[in-house]
Amino acid sequence: MSRDMYRQRILDHYRDPQNYGTIKDPDVTYEDVNPSCGDEIQMYAVVDDEDEIVDVKFDGQGCAISQASASLLTEKVKGMTVEEVRDLETDDIREMLGIELSPVRVKCAVLGLKVLEGGIVEYEKGKGT
Ligand code: FES
Ligand code: FES
Repeated sequence: MSRDMYRQRILDHYRDPQNYGTIKDPDVTYEDVNPSCGDEIQMYAVVDDEDEIVDVKFDGQGCAISQASASLLTEKVKGMTVEEVRDLETDDIREMLGIELSPVRVKCAVLGLKVLEGGIVEYEKGKGT
């Protein structure tokens, strides 16, 4: 994909976020803020017996980058195991977005991942692993 296509995809996900909403009785749930702006995102996920993420949703407010990144992330992690998600890093988010990000924008871009990983840590604590 070209730079313009990545930009367009980010705008599309911002205007029409995928998997936006909440899940009743999720296995994973967490919320956190981007400390640089105060924007907050919640993540919810359902995990099956194989520790695979079968459903995931997010809600909350933030800038275009944070919302598009969270939306793209929900598509990316469906079908991944919780361990695979925990191993995702900032570079994976950069790659997923496909555009140059300033340090301030990186915090926006990783907000969704930070929240989901926070939820997974809690989930694993609950399982005693
Ligand atoms: Fe580009 Fe807000 S101005 S994400
Ligand atoms: Fe708040 Fe980007 S400015 S999440």
